[in-house]
Amino acid sequence: MRRAFKIFLYGLCFYLLVRSFFLYHDDITKDTSEKLERLQDNIVSSSQVDNDTTEAMIGLVIETENDGKSEPSQQYNTLSTSTEDNATATEIISVDKKEENGKTVISPHDYKYLINEEKICANDPFLLIYIHTAPGNVARRNMIRKTWGGVRRIQGYRTVLIFLLGVPSDRRIDERVTLESKIHHDIIQEDYIDTYRNLTLKGIMGLKWAINFCSNAKFILKTDDDVFVNIYPLFGYLLKITRENATSCHNVLGLVRPFVKKDLYPPYCYGLAYVYAMSTAKPIYTASLYEPFFWIDDVFITGVLAKKAGVKLTQLDYKFPPKIIIPSDGPLRALKENKDKYTFVLLHDLHKYPSRMTELWNTVSS
Ligand SMILES: *[C@@H]1O[C@H](CO)[C@@H](O)[C@H](O)[C@H]1NC(C)=O
Ligand SMILES: *[C@@H]1O[C@H](CO)[C@@H](O)[C@H](O)[C@H]1NC(C)=O
Ligand SMILES: *[C@@H]1O[C@H](CO)[C@@H](O)[C@H](O)[C@H]1NC(C)=O
Ligand SMILES: *[C@@H]1O[C@H](CO)[C@@H](O)[C@H](O)[C@H]1NC(C)=O
Repeated sequence: MRRAFKIFLYGLCFYLLVRSFFLYHDDITKDTSEKLERLQDNIVSSSQVDNDTTEAMIGLVIETENDGKSEPSQQYNTLSTSTEDNATATEIISVDKKEENGKTVISPHDYKYLINEEKICANDPFLLIYIHTAPGNVARRNMIRKTWGGVRRIQGYRTVLIFLLGVPSDRRIDERVTLESKIHHDIIQEDYIDTYRNLTLKGIMGLKWAINFCSNAKFILKTDDDVFVNIYPLFGYLLKITRENATSCHNVLGLVRPFVKKDLYPPYCYGLAYVYAMSTAKPIYTASLYEPFFWIDDVFITGVLAKKAGVKLTQLDYKFPPKIIIPSDGPLRALKENKDKYTFVLLHDLHKYPSRMTELWNTVSS
């Protein structure tokens, strides 16, 4: 009897192990392939992609325009009749219609905090790092905590790391998130449904949280859970910026084709990683209240909203401009030769090489 029970117990453990692996794996694969699709859409010529040291992006800085006047959104909302823009065109039409209502709040971000860390910025951080992450990606969050995201202090300046989450549709995943939060105290969760198409909500959530709970930080780094950030050179650069309202980010102009047609949207920062000056958070967040959401978060937030808020994009001026590199074994070699060489590395092959984040980190931090 006891023996049978033991066997049953082992069987159950094995089943749970295998099942949780597949749940986790599905999550990552789906997430990554969606991102890759978008990335491929962004790259001009295939000759730029077939090399493992492809440098697809250039760095930019955003700063607030002095007069702070917002410009009419209609300027870049020129409608396109081209069929390839069908979906986006429909969304833009609704933007124009609602604009006629004048200054009424049409997109209130009134979601409730299910998990919050209200005091996490009490120690006056210099840099707030917030990471867009899907609820199921606990392994990725742990990797970031153990590597570049775990650095709490650089040259006497503090960093704060938080992960932004909505509510997963799977209740078991939500329970794990709650547990994870009790261990690490770095999760912020709002009660909207966490889906890829709701990433814009996540971006707005980050800005709102920063304004309310971390406005004492100087800069906000926004990135994703599959991006390696070379935190030391980035930090060094940010410290050098004396203008507090400068914001660095990635822009698609020049090397990379915009995700949507150029004449439809203003220039925007490529969403994998960019930095806001804290002073730009409030104007951009405020602009979001009067604008219907468009689901592509980087285009919407750093393009449409930044323009409305009078926040402009400027090139990041750094010895080695930040670059996003795909795939990630090229950077590993490059960083061994020069630790400052790359600022952001997109680990799109994280599902194949789960140790890549750690390898990159060991390389730059040794
Ligand atoms: C890849 O990049 C290296 C160094 O930049 C270059 O020598 C090589 O020709 C490139 N390979 C391809 C296939 O473009
Ligand atoms: C664009 O929208 C029209 C009308 O809604 C539809 O008939 C057409 O198939 C769409 N084209 C594409 C490429 O989706
Ligand atoms: C986004 O979240 C809202 C609020 O929870 C939800 O009503 C909506 O269905 C979600 N949208 C998508 C596309 O998942
Ligand atoms: C932004 O920075 C410029 C200098 O680059 C400064 O003149 C201006 O006053 C700043 N604006 C705000 C809102 O801080």
